[in-house]
Amino acid sequence: AAMEKGEYRHFMLKEIFEQPTVVAQTLGSYVRQENRSVALPQLDVDLGAIERVTIVACGTSYYAGLVAKYWFEQFARLPVDIDVASEFRYREPVLEPGGLALFISQSGETADTLAALRHCKENGQTIGAVVNVPTSTMAREADVLLPTHAGPEIGVASTKAFTCQLAVLAALAAHMAVKRGRLSRDQEQEIVDHLLETPACLNAALDRDDDIAAMAPLIAPARDVLYLGRGQDYPLAMEGALKLKEISYIHAEGYASGEMKHGPIALIDDNVPVIVIAPSGPLFEKTVSNMQEVSARGGKIVLISDAEGIAEAGEGCMATIQMPRVHPLIAPLVYAVPVQLLAYHVAVAKGTDVDQPRNLAKSVTVE
Ligand code: AGP
Repeated sequence: AAMEKGEYRHFMLKEIFEQPTVVAQTLGSYVRQENRSVALPQLDVDLGAIERVTIVACGTSYYAGLVAKYWFEQFARLPVDIDVASEFRYREPVLEPGGLALFISQSGETADTLAALRHCKENGQTIGAVVNVPTSTMAREADVLLPTHAGPEIGVASTKAFTCQLAVLAALAAHMAVKRGRLSRDQEQEIVDHLLETPACLNAALDRDDDIAAMAPLIAPARDVLYLGRGQDYPLAMEGALKLKEISYIHAEGYASGEMKHGPIALIDDNVPVIVIAPSGPLFEKTVSNMQEVSARGGKIVLISDAEGIAEAGEGCMATIQMPRVHPLIAPLVYAVPVQLLAYHVAVAKGTDVDQPRNLAKSVTVE
């Protein structure tokens, strides 16, 4: 049956709004609510024996991998190497026995990612695949298939596949942490509880849609936009910039908040909006000083934070977008929503073809 947009103007918007449902669906197959445990599908592979992880993907799927790197390291204390698929094979990566190579792909067909998968297989890695299309080539060739249940994604700009990838990767990191004896039963239950809060928090984030639509005209005239984030929210800055580039054709860059003063700060003037992705927390103060560096040069800040962060640093910003207060683990999923909506509304304001942006294909099957 043909996919329908229903009440939505674009598939992208429909897919953004589907996230609470599809993330819940995806989590449903990776956690057991009854005993609050992480439960991966039945596997032939002993994930407890894995000694290192290599993550390979492209585009938005790569950014999901970058977030997951923080989780594998923090929770499971597993060393992680990560690269974009087009670079990976050619740098002759060191692939030692006992490694899990993880490929993340909505389509399961991206040529560079598939070539990297086959390279890792030839080099004795256990192959894991986080894919959204269960009949895809990557799904078939993996030893460990970890499906996302986002349903068909039609918009060229990936949205719901990304948050579902994050949900699977968070569960996988927690599972490996348990297997490696790094999480107590209590800690595992706590993580599961936080994961299960995600759909409600995604809904709260979606409630900001009107506010975000209202501020889009402030961003639409810009030629360049800078996105800043720190820690596990740094990849989101890059994802936000990618979304904006893809569908609004505005040049954007994602940067680590603390790295801005090492170069990009030279770009800042009152024509460059700076989107700061910063949930409150232990590192928030550091981001506030990075914001002051921007303001002092006339930069216009959009702060995406929770009530506490906005109370502390919202003054003087061009705009603020308030998120619910969330556990750091699920922040990347929740904060994905405002960056998606911002890109979407800016593109609509500019009148571009949101679902079929120029020069782009949904699935890139050439290297
Ligand atoms: C995301 O909005 C892009 N259209 C693109 O970067 C995409 O994520 C990339 O091509 C990877 O695709 P895949 O997940 O199907 O492998």
